[in-house]
Amino acid sequence: MKISFAKPDLPAAGIVVVGVQDDRKLTPSAKALDKRLHGALSRALSASRFKGTRGHGLTVMAPDAHINRVYLAGLGDPAKLDDQALQALGGDIYAGLSGTGQKEVTVMVDELEGCDLAPAAMAAEIAFGARLRSYRFDKYRTKLDKHDKPSLKTLKLATIGAAKARAAFAPLDRVADGVFMTRDLVSEPANVLNPVTLAAEAKTLAKLGVKVEVLDVNDMRKLGMGALLGVGQGSATPSRLVVMQWHGAGKARKGKDGPVAFIGKGVTFDTGGISIKPAAGMEDMKWDMGGAGVVIGLMKALAGRKAKVDAVGVVGLVENMPSGTAQRPGDIVTSMSGQTIEVLNTDAEGRLVLADALWYCQDRFKPKVMVDLATLTGAIIICLGDQKAGLFSNNDDLAKSLYAAGEAVGENLWRMPLGDAYDKMINSDAADMKNISGGRGAGSTTAAQFLQRFVNDVPWAHLDIAGVTWSKKDGAVTPKGGTGFGVRLLDRLVAEHYEG
Ligand code: BES
Ligand code: MN
Ligand code: ZN
Repeated sequence: MKISFAKPDLPAAGIVVVGVQDDRKLTPSAKALDKRLHGALSRALSASRFKGTRGHGLTVMAPDAHINRVYLAGLGDPAKLDDQALQALGGDIYAGLSGTGQKEVTVMVDELEGCDLAPAAMAAEIAFGARLRSYRFDKYRTKLDKHDKPSLKTLKLATIGAAKARAAFAPLDRVADGVFMTRDLVSEPANVLNPVTLAAEAKTLAKLGVKVEVLDVNDMRKLGMGALLGVGQGSATPSRLVVMQWHGAGKARKGKDGPVAFIGKGVTFDTGGISIKPAAGMEDMKWDMGGAGVVIGLMKALAGRKAKVDAVGVVGLVENMPSGTAQRPGDIVTSMSGQTIEVLNTDAEGRLVLADALWYCQDRFKPKVMVDLATLTGAIIICLGDQKAGLFSNNDDLAKSLYAAGEAVGENLWRMPLGDAYDKMINSDAADMKNISGGRGAGSTTAAQFLQRFVNDVPWAHLDIAGVTWSKKDGAVTPKGGTGFGVRLLDRLVAEHYEG
């Protein structure tokens, strides 16, 4: 879909979207259009229950010989129209009008009394929401009927300050590129996306100016990454560690302090290994590389919009398979940190991968902060469902900044506890630690405690995204499937705290 910005002229044909505020109050362009249509819009309004409530709308078909339809979009109270509400509006407009058979939709954006945002900013947010909602993963659907595909080719935002709107939309468009990449990666099946092919996907960021290094099994063996390598040893596809660097801060900041670092769990398929998972629902484990997918998509967003930040992304890529070479329950592995781990359950593999990725990252880059993302535990889904991701941190300021960034973009987090009493639960009699507590309680926290043993004293946060990475139903700006949860959140964190 092409998105364009133009002067606020009413079109004479096609599909037109105009706003209606609470109590059926027409916006200025709705009024102008109503007049041109000899009152067709106000008649339709009074013939319906629609009152202008946000999230609702009314379609008026063929109000004259040229206009295909008018969509009256509920704006509610303009004082409550913020970024997120406008993005949701854009998403709703796309979902409602992309399959009409028409190729173009024009959205009239008005200056609204009481709304904090100028029309140009409103237009940019509506466009962002529409683009986010327009994502599709159709590449393997060879028999899809033309009528089941979107007809919409151009979304036009008609606003005063069109040039300003275009400029405001440009970086949002780059963030959407990152979100789309993440969604593509989590949607790919595991016979296509494995550690080697996922590393190759990360390599494509080089054309945006990201420095991408790929460590193979030999490199990792030399570094002593026994925890990560143990997980991948049962697979026919070798493990990889990908390191991405974006240097956007410029010379002035060079050497001043470390980069911001993001670390992702990239288990391209999680069978559970020898501690094998039940058959039902195992297909979901193709998106057990969701954390890595977010880190790669985020690096794409940051590089795409030329963020003024030095950022590092590290993703540990493995496939967790049962086989004659697979690791066994009871095996003891030595991590890059030197700490030994008794692997009591081969299905608690994500923490093993992150142990070496986190240690490597802090050891090599001395980052000022590290944020890891992982589809780490089923327990976080029990706690938070698909509404929020779990946030664990050793640093209150970082936790607060992340929480606020999540609220600002609508990717919500909820802070979960860490503490010495939980830490003790993963002490082992045979090694420095074990990879499961053995008890039934606090599974997400004991997993986070495990990670904390590999972050040294770096300010760190862990986001357990197991519940939010994949959605079975459409959301306003996220069609069902891979959500890309985390890209917008971390892009916002960077923009608010680490740029400039
Ligand atoms: N990848 C899973 C966690 C998961 C479950 C993600 C459901 C998304 C949806 C992880 O590797 C895992 O298997 N965790 C185990 C840990 C347990 C063995 C301590 C779990 O949560 O059951
Ligand atoms: Mn597992
Ligand atoms: Zn897993």
